[in-house]
Amino acid sequence: MKNEVMELADLLKNSKHVVVLTGAGMDTESNIPDFRGKDGWWKNMDPRTVASIDTLQENYSLFHEFYSMRLKMLEGVKPHKGHFILAELESRGMIEGIATQNVAGLHAMAGSRRVYELHGNIRSIRCNNCHREAGLKNFLNKEKCNFCGGALRPGVVLFGEMLPNEAWDSAMSAIERSDLLVVIGTSLEVYPVNQLPMMTRGKTVLINNEDRGGSGMFDLKIIGKAREVLEELYDNLED
Ligand code: APR
Repeated sequence: MKNEVMELADLLKNSKHVVVLTGAGMDTESNIPDFRGKDGWWKNMDPRTVASIDTLQENYSLFHEFYSMRLKMLEGVKPHKGHFILAELESRGMIEGIATQNVAGLHAMAGSRRVYELHGNIRSIRCNNCHREAGLKNFLNKEKCNFCGGALRPGVVLFGEMLPNEAWDSAMSAIERSDLLVVIGTSLEVYPVNQLPMMTRGKTVLINNEDRGGSGMFDLKIIGKAREVLEELYDNLED
């Protein structure tokens, strides 16, 4: 792994438009389960049963049970060193921004300023009908929208819903302009985010604890844990 991390450090130093794309594997070392890894959410439940727009409309109790559990698990959750390193690299001008599939907001909490939340943010609660904002407590208490009586929901992209246009467009144009795209902690199983690595005109690097993306999608693959690799990368950049 040492040589690959040194190669990534060189790529970073010699690139002008670097974008990072992260998935749930970036947050597991902050005790947030991923979806398809060995202890992932989808190991013992079908995402379309609990995390789809159909479930919200047809079985609100099941939908509410799943998302209130995920929200309660976020209490006390903090970014890890890897998130802080990415924020530091942005403040040094070495990366332009982060496109993330993650919804817990850990990149922003660590100080990253340009974050494209492609799958939304689980802490922002709104009415599914009139879109008015509501509080976390209102959702956890299973209250209805106090304006129109509609169902409350987290601001995440559910299966069967479109991605937020602004985040998607900003992320896509940044990646199209990039000369280096670093993909961290994602199985690349979910469309359309799994198309993004093909949209860069530059080099692609994968940091993941298992091999993903098939042959040819990445110029460099670093198989390892996100936090560990980012710490080693950071040490290399100091040299
Ligand atoms: N370091 C590096 N890689 C890791 C780590 C880690 N500490 N922990 C897990 N991984 C890897 C897993 O092995 C897996 O390959 O990260 C990847 C996570 O993949 P998924 O669980 O599928 O998560 P993600 O790719 O973000 O899922 C995309 O699917 O269900 C939807 O909306 C959900 O945003 C999510 C989307």
